[in-house]
Amino acid sequence: MSSPEWLDLGPVERFKTSPITPASIGTTKLAITYVSGEFGALSGVCNHAGGPVGEGRVEGEYVVCPWHQWRYHCRTGKGEPGFEADALPTYDIRIDGDRLFVSAEPVSKRMRGPHPPHPLARKIERVPGNIRLVGISTTNMDVMNPRYSTSDALLDVAMRHAVGLGVETKLIRLAALNFRPCAGYYSKSAHACTWPCSITQMDSTDRMDVVYEAVVHWADVILVATPIRWGNASSLYYRMVERMNCIQNQITIANRILMRNKVSIFIITGGQDNIQAVAGQMLGFFGEIGCNFPQFPYIAHSRGWTAEDMERNIEVVKHSRELRDGARALVNRAVDMAQLLLDHEEAPHTMERGGRKAHHLVMEDIGVDAGEISGLPMVNDVLMRTPSV
Ligand code: FES
Repeated sequence: MSSPEWLDLGPVERFKTSPITPASIGTTKLAITYVSGEFGALSGVCNHAGGPVGEGRVEGEYVVCPWHQWRYHCRTGKGEPGFEADALPTYDIRIDGDRLFVSAEPVSKRMRGPHPPHPLARKIERVPGNIRLVGISTTNMDVMNPRYSTSDALLDVAMRHAVGLGVETKLIRLAALNFRPCAGYYSKSAHACTWPCSITQMDSTDRMDVVYEAVVHWADVILVATPIRWGNASSLYYRMVERMNCIQNQITIANRILMRNKVSIFIITGGQDNIQAVAGQMLGFFGEIGCNFPQFPYIAHSRGWTAEDMERNIEVVKHSRELRDGARALVNRAVDMAQLLLDHEEAPHTMERGGRKAHHLVMEDIGVDAGEISGLPMVNDVLMRTPSV
């Protein structure tokens, strides 16, 4: 049997093999649940950022969205306790013979509860004032028992010089900041990577918000200092930039440039070599997120492959006038450039990639039609909700 009101999903047995199975009717995505011997049918599009609910998992009576773990009751579609106001549309289910049928129209509506936006989601506006420089120390150390760090020492010289120029400064030591590594949401779908970062929105103990606040909302100049570790920048540097993928991703999926009129410069030091490769990665990454570079955008120091005598290395940096002068000149160039960029204010706000606009990407890549997604938050404007884990 089939009628305009009921649509054939297929053999009943197919939907009994897993507690949750994705399905579709036309372009509408569904999540068919089979929990405790009962079927349920929910919209397969998450309220949060359009995640594929049907590809999630079931915990108890709740389906868990695979992107950021919002939970919905497997039959009523209502959010987990405390978030019942968030509900997915539900559909009627009936079995006829060995076939499973679903109602052509939902029998309950999508509802969204109130969610305050994360503070980082506010409009990005350059508040008037002096040039601002954030120094980011990426070297790792036991903060209770600190050691002399050549990259930190030159960072200190640079920042003191900036203060003398009348620049506002802020220092972030990643070694003292508790923040999680990127969870790789982007690798599930570009749309699962959100601004503000999904981890930042879900975990108030994660302090990557300090970096986001400084580099996106506050600084004109971003000065990153790193040691060379086995021919690369420090592991903390990589942990930070992986989390900054959400800044670059806004350009890809939402045609939105978060960082405008900003200048990046770098200090790179190491007992052994590979300066140019480290600088190349840093220039590449900060260029990708929209930063500009002054002429000669980094200073660096290394004594080469055979320099294993760290004590001597420290002495060289401690007493090098050339490196100190270089750090000061680096700041001068960056501050001049930042002022120039602010005075002209010509940086674009958007950049189309591949000729397609962001909302087209959302529709096509998630596989959702316009009617289904209307009313959902745009991916660049997702809302806070801390699931009970
Ligand atoms: S939890 Fe479903 S899209 Fe974020």
